Amino acid sequence: MTPRKDLLDIASLTDAEIEFVLANAVPFKELFKRSVKKVPTLKGQTVLTLFYEPSTRTRSSFEVAASRLSADVTHFDIESSSVVKGESILDTVETLESMRVDYIVVRHKQSGTPSLIAKNTRASVINAGDGWHAHPTQALLDAFTLKEKLNTMNGARVLIVGDIQHSRVARSTSLIFRRLGMNVAYLAPGSMMPRETPVKIPQFGNWTDALDWKPDVIYLLRVQSERMDEPYFPSTAEYHKNYGLTDSRLDIISERGLWLMHPGPVNRGVEITDRGMNYAKSLINQQVENGIAVRMSVLYWLKPGAGVSP
Ligand code: CP
Repeated sequence: MTPRKDLLDIASLTDAEIEFVLANAVPFKELFKRSVKKVPTLKGQTVLTLFYEPSTRTRSSFEVAASRLSADVTHFDIESSSVVKGESILDTVETLESMRVDYIVVRHKQSGTPSLIAKNTRASVINAGDGWHAHPTQALLDAFTLKEKLNTMNGARVLIVGDIQHSRVARSTSLIFRRLGMNVAYLAPGSMMPRETPVKIPQFGNWTDALDWKPDVIYLLRVQSERMDEPYFPSTAEYHKNYGLTDSRLDIISERGLWLMHPGPVNRGVEITDRGMNYAKSLINQQVENGIAVRMSVLYWLKPGAGVSP
């Protein structure tokens, strides 16, 4: 495998790279059972998290992953930095470059920002979510989670439900699931279906038709109101009634024994109910746990300073 400096999206990864990350996450996850969960793999390296958008899971997951690899971890606090005085992204990156950090984990509302940063630093840049574009570590951890649960990924069916248009998660997970042999379909109101209409992805406008497609996994998405300049549906109650996982729909998926996923954060009462959050075959907490192992694997795999950047 050619050494790779940055992880910017799923589309540019080779099959071997995806397999490498998923396979190495297994021994990293084994570490979590030990009282000492740390290995010296990245001793002496510095990982910096640079989040221009809020995050609970991704940022803390990267910080825990980096600490478990013995890296020094620093968070760049945007609110108390010179960014609020108007400092540009590239000037910020030049400053970080002078500090010789080894990894920059970046989230930004503008698609393409991680790629811009990657071209201007020797540090390995990991995209922790850019606009509507990509969230590659979410896709890798989702694939890892399903690999653990499904007898075979080949031919398995994943129904992605909700705000697909605004979702970097849906774009990245659709790519990796299909690369791994799974089938993907979308269920959403017309206003939330992706404009680019990807080929080969069936699209449904109601739950009855979507469940007739016989999914093995229901993957709910958060309604991303912060990315909507105008309402995409009449009310959250209306959205819940037509597209949410209501308790009666939960009964159906429970009877069929379907797996349930959500990348978080969830909007209770919108895409899911309290009962849905306690569903026995929900993988939501396992997605979070696996996120640490997969991100350890990503940090282990990338090579700061390597010449290859997609
Ligand atoms: N899944 C995800 O990206 O969650 P956060 O926004 O909390 O990081």
